[in-house]
Amino acid sequence: MTRKSIAIPPLTDELACVLIDAETIDRRVAELAQQINHDYANIKEPLILVGVLKGSFIFLADLCRKLTVPHVVDFISVSSYGKTTNTSGNVRLLMDTRENQENHHVLIVEDILDSGYTLDYLDRNFKTRGTKSVKNCVLLDKPDRHVVPVEISYLGFDVPDVWVVGYGLDVGEKYRTLPYIAEYKHEEA
Ligand code: PRP
Repeated sequence: MTRKSIAIPPLTDELACVLIDAETIDRRVAELAQQINHDYANIKEPLILVGVLKGSFIFLADLCRKLTVPHVVDFISVSSYGKTTNTSGNVRLLMDTRENQENHHVLIVEDILDSGYTLDYLDRNFKTRGTKSVKNCVLLDKPDRHVVPVEISYLGFDVPDVWVVGYGLDVGEKYRTLPYIAEYKHEEA
């Protein structure tokens, strides 16, 4: 019998610990998909999944492959100024979606909710597009960081107020493709 082992990238000196391992993520994504399949079981038009670039791309890829309800995949890109200083929630649209959301149910897929500015902006934006409904699916929430209130429709995990990387999340584009979520050792300036 031949055995195949999975290569798990080891922690580097910059990473404090694994916060959520790949198996736990996979199980939770399956649970979220099951709930979404249940909730949208009777929709007539395909559900439009809108992944928020870049951080959501791995979560969205895993989630959509577990969906049995009809769906289409789309993306949007935004940037918000002043996040690092917590002083501004000025969100700017960098790249819009390609699908027309009119008369469709929209599910915004986000990797993380931090201040809430991004999701608050997207929620309000999609509600102006003639959508039937706008909900969100967020993998990670940092409740201690919220500045604006945002109602989460589907949530993967709460995480503490530490820098998190992996499974789509980066620090300066590093660690985005780790299969697990880890704490990055952030040194205060
Ligand atoms: C992150 C994350 C969310 C947003 C959440 O994106 O992917 O979109 O920040 O923060 P907020 O709740 O404070 O608005 P980021 O700007 O780091 O871009 P990226 O996804 O391309 O890495």
